[in-house]
Amino acid sequence: MKVSLDEIAEPGTSARVVLEQLEPNRLPVHVAIIMDGNGRWATARRLPRVEGHRAGIRAVRQTIETAARLGIDVLTLYAFSTENWKRPRHEVLTLMGLLKEYINRELKTFLKHDLRFRPIGRIDQLDGSVRRELARAVDATSSCRGSLIQIALNYSGRQELTDVMRSVAREAAAGRLQANDLDENWIEEHLTTRGQPDPDLLIRTSGEQRISNFLLWQLAYSEIYFAPALWPDFDQEEFLKALLAYQQRERRFGGLPQVENVFIPPEDQHG
Ligand code: FPP
Repeated sequence: MKVSLDEIAEPGTSARVVLEQLEPNRLPVHVAIIMDGNGRWATARRLPRVEGHRAGIRAVRQTIETAARLGIDVLTLYAFSTENWKRPRHEVLTLMGLLKEYINRELKTFLKHDLRFRPIGRIDQLDGSVRRELARAVDATSSCRGSLIQIALNYSGRQELTDVMRSVAREAAAGRLQANDLDENWIEEHLTTRGQPDPDLLIRTSGEQRISNFLLWQLAYSEIYFAPALWPDFDQEEFLKALLAYQQRERRFGGLPQVENVFIPPEDQHG
């Protein structure tokens, strides 16, 4: 953890009780989150769906700050999928507006916590005003060395893999890639997440239990935690509970629990 427990959660709060159970040296390095349930949160309050997104910003802010204070290296938030364009125009425009507003307001917080901002997805297809705001945040935080905050926007895991396959076809056609040169490292170096570790933990809120086209390659060995809370209700305690659940899992990566001297053929290290 980067700071004292008091700076993360106040003594006497239920979040603090969970925080004290966490082992600081076994936190996930990369946490990815599917923020789900904004619409249902609003509908339950007889509010327009967009009010759920607005309320979701609070949870975004709190989760980023907690991750930064805990010293989690990478946090990836799924904010807008390529399928989300099918939503009513007003909802799409509101989401884009909220994103711009969020970046504009929170840039100071990013700099204060030394956070590097990075959007992933088909950013070139977003409106110019959104792209400009994203580029401003990327530039302003480029020399920050704290946590990396990735926001997936107009993102699709299948599209990301399709883009890699296109690179393979191009490189092969140009004679720069032979079939035997293509391995997992090559593919990883051509993903949008190149250079980063795969998520150790994927959290999805709202009780839905799907991956929804998110980081399809990168989630191969991630632990998955389904939180019942709707995203606007996903507060610091909920986030800490997800981290605690992660620490209670046993990660085997296809191997066996704590067995030494197990022969693993070099060509087949997964199970
Ligand atoms: C899913 O809830 C949520 C989204 C599609 C958008 C998430 C966006 C935010 C939390 C706000 C903006 C983000 C940032 C990073 C500033 P849903 O609408 O699918 O909920 P439902 O399943 O209840 O309908």
